[in-house]
Amino acid sequence: MRSSGKTTLCLFIIAGVIVRSEAVRQVSLNVGENLETSIFTASDNVEGCYLDTPWGETIEFKPVDNSNDKYKLEEDTEFVKCKVTVKSINSNDAGIWTLRSASDNGNNRNETYEVTVTTEGTSTEISSKLNIEINEETSTTDVAETTWLPQETTENTIETSTAQIEEIINIDPEHFVTKIGESHELKIPEYDFLNSEKCYIVTPDGNQYDVEMTQINGIEVIKDDNVACGVKVHIVSEQMIGDWMLISRGTRYSTEVVERRLPFTIILEEIVNALPSEITVNQGNDIYIRLEDSTPFYDTCKLIDPLDTFRTNIEKDSRYVDTCGFIVKNASENDSGFWQIKYGESTIYKAFVRVTVNGEAQTDIQSHYTWTLDRPVEQLMGPENTVYCRVVDPKQNTVFDGFGRCNVTLNRVTVEHTGRWRIFVGLEGRVLTDEHDFEVTVREADPKPVVSTSVATNKPLVTLTCSVSSSHAVNSCKFRDPTGRILLANPGVGEDRYTFHGEGSSLQSGVYNHECGIQITNPEIRDLGLWSCAMATDAETYYGFLSVLCPWAMQDPEVAATVVSEPTLKAENQMVNGLVGETVTMSCSVQSAIRYCYFRARNGTTFSVSPGESTGAIEYAGAGFDAGDCAIRFSSLSASDSGLWSCHVGLVSASETEHRDSFEVSIQDTLVAEQRVEHNALIITGRVHDDRAVEYCRFVRIDGLGFTTENLPEGYRSDSLLSVGRCEIRIPSPSILELHPWTVAVRIRGQDVELSRETLHSLHEHLPEDENQIFVYHFPITWLMILIIGMSLIMTGILVGPKKNRTWTYAKASSIRDSLRRSFGKKIVTEKIVPERNTPMSA
Ligand SMILES: *[C@@H]1O[C@H](CO)[C@@H](O)[C@H](O)[C@H]1NC(C)=O
Ligand SMILES: *[C@@H]1O[C@H](CO)[C@@H](O)[C@H](O)[C@H]1NC(C)=O
Ligand SMILES: *[C@@H]1O[C@H](CO)[C@@H](O)[C@H](O)[C@H]1NC(C)=O
Ligand SMILES: *[C@@H]1O[C@H](CO)[C@@H](O)[C@H](O)[C@H]1NC(C)=O
Ligand SMILES: *[C@@H]1O[C@H](CO)[C@@H](O)[C@H](O)[C@H]1NC(C)=O
Repeated sequence: MRSSGKTTLCLFIIAGVIVRSEAVRQVSLNVGENLETSIFTASDNVEGCYLDTPWGETIEFKPVDNSNDKYKLEEDTEFVKCKVTVKSINSNDAGIWTLRSASDNGNNRNETYEVTVTTEGTSTEISSKLNIEINEETSTTDVAETTWLPQETTENTIETSTAQIEEIINIDPEHFVTKIGESHELKIPEYDFLNSEKCYIVTPDGNQYDVEMTQINGIEVIKDDNVACGVKVHIVSEQMIGDWMLISRGTRYSTEVVERRLPFTIILEEIVNALPSEITVNQGNDIYIRLEDSTPFYDTCKLIDPLDTFRTNIEKDSRYVDTCGFIVKNASENDSGFWQIKYGESTIYKAFVRVTVNGEAQTDIQSHYTWTLDRPVEQLMGPENTVYCRVVDPKQNTVFDGFGRCNVTLNRVTVEHTGRWRIFVGLEGRVLTDEHDFEVTVREADPKPVVSTSVATNKPLVTLTCSVSSSHAVNSCKFRDPTGRILLANPGVGEDRYTFHGEGSSLQSGVYNHECGIQITNPEIRDLGLWSCAMATDAETYYGFLSVLCPWAMQDPEVAATVVSEPTLKAENQMVNGLVGETVTMSCSVQSAIRYCYFRARNGTTFSVSPGESTGAIEYAGAGFDAGDCAIRFSSLSASDSGLWSCHVGLVSASETEHRDSFEVSIQDTLVAEQRVEHNALIITGRVHDDRAVEYCRFVRIDGLGFTTENLPEGYRSDSLLSVGRCEIRIPSPSILELHPWTVAVRIRGQDVELSRETLHSLHEHLPEDENQIFVYHFPITWLMILIIGMSLIMTGILVGPKKNRTWTYAKASSIRDSLRRSFGKKIVTEKIVPERNTPMSA
């Protein structure tokens, strides 16, 4: 059998052992030799290692290593973690030495040596004796081996063999929870006091085999000098499941047969999927658990609860027999945790389900809400773990129906919203929805806090103060001077002739009182007039107006005349430009709070707007009525909306007359197409707004003839300039066909869409009556003179001339009249086309 060099050496050193004792090793040493002590500590984690000397001293090696020249802690090996050498034994060292170890698992072991010290002369005698002993030893084991040939063993081998064994050392058993294809190593190490000889393995069926002699499926022998008996177990089949044992047999002190036994268990286990793998359920509800895939071993299914106990008070789910369906009724909070379905005959299959049982369903549904009339509402309701929600208003309309938390969103609260609402909530861990009621009260909005203002004059100082009480803290305060300049009232800051002044903010029984102001030293003319202040909180901005008219600065009547002392509505821009189809904003403001605001188009149509109000086409675009802002934003206007507009406001002081201001609005079309006749030639033009460059100009005649300026029909001429968005063609002596409306189209460089417009009117269009009337006023005086003179001549002819001439004069007169009418017609056409694409308006 294998017997390492180390063992031989050790045996040599502790030679001379004759008496065997369970507890005490007899060691005889020559002076100068070393005493080697060690404890088999298996795979424990050794924390303490101590050596007790014959004179009662204890030397610590672990945890504190007190090694010195005499005592030395040797290096750990896999299974010996407390090994100490006592160097150069002398006659004083004779006596009992005990080596003790302490492991973290509570295993305390010790090994005791009774040392006798001999003189030099005897050593050779001992060593020769040792040799003989080793030989004897070998023969003993040989005998033993013949008795225990694996082939001849029976199930009771281990039992019967113990009789002949002097000592059995049981090594802590091992468990392998494993699966097919895995490998595990088992080792019984060499031990200094044993001369290992044989290595056996006991299979689950109880048979014992010599691993060297017998080939067992899946078992591979480990050959290693430090290992007395070791195997690598390859899990190749389910037949390997069961209890095994590895046995290392050796001899101690040449004669004693010692067996070290390492039992091990192989368990095959596989994890499979449960359905579902996670369940959230409310207390009192039932839990349904099963496997994802069916199994032929469904008879063996067991349900193990989170406390690792096999549950019996459960039902099998008859719908899912072959997937091990279980029903756990009336779940309690204690049922939270990992449950497992366990089945299988040899391989054990396990499926885990994480179960969360929620406590008492929380019905933290607020039972009352107060909403503000005409304001929007966005309100989340019900528990946070809501999976599904439906909210029904008092008129039985469903206001919210969807997954997730209840979210009631109203654009505007009306009195219709008052009353009992109903909410249906589906919670996580539940099947049924809960039904709750809540009450809604609608109240009018609180009036906006009023800013009180004051102006104190005390030559050379003018002090402007604004103050407001609000439920929010004011975080900024600014002033606007009569010229529109903004001044910030920052506490403690002064600049130029202006300094901050005021008390700042103070909180009093939940209401913030805020005061801010500006002090002007030696006001100039530009400081005189109407001021405004704005105080902003997180929620709103409050406005106030102040009139700075200090008598000493206004003594000069010329100066006094320039100071605006009455609120005056002013349009922000006298000219509002816009493009067809784009948003256009018109704003006016006055140094006073206003009650209403409207705009009037040139055709008399009015558009009234208020803050917070918005239709798709128009909306209020100012800072608020209390800021004196009257502003409107049109989402889109057309070229025909151009003209003189006005804004109108009513001031809060109801007795005041309405204020108005007017301004010009010009809405340009991005492409304007026209056609006109000039010197007997037809000219068709297209103009792009802002002179944007175009990629091409395209024209389409009424009959469908289409061309660009690059492929003009015969006789047509192009005067276009594409780089400035100008399209123009000239057709000499146009035919009736050519005088019909044309289509002009361009593509602005860099844009995807093509713009296309049609020119207006053809020669043969019937002229509306009012057009003729307009024409009368435009009738040139020269023509009128000629007409009058001509008519007088004709009349004279009729009265004076001979009868035969009368027919001539009649004919002449009608021809003149016709020719006149023709030129009128032409004139009308050209006039009509040039300035006006727009529809005529009714005033
Ligand atoms: C040594 O161990 C034995 C049992 O293994 C125990 O009875 C004895 O008290 C121990 N001796 C010392 C000194 O710890
Ligand atoms: C469910 O279990 C609780 C205790 O956990 C018990 O009080 C209750 O009566 C049970 N309900 C039913 C329906 O079994
Ligand atoms: C849950 O466990 C606690 C302590 O472990 C116990 O007092 C309680 O009665 C259990 N509740 C139920 C419903 O089983
Ligand atoms: C509630 O609904 C509105 C509109 O439907 C949405 O804008 C808002 O983000 C929602 N709120 C939450 C918290 O989901
Ligand atoms: C009057 O002008 C407005 C705006 O310019 C326009 O919306 C409205 O249609 C016009 N009304 C009539 C009758 O032309």
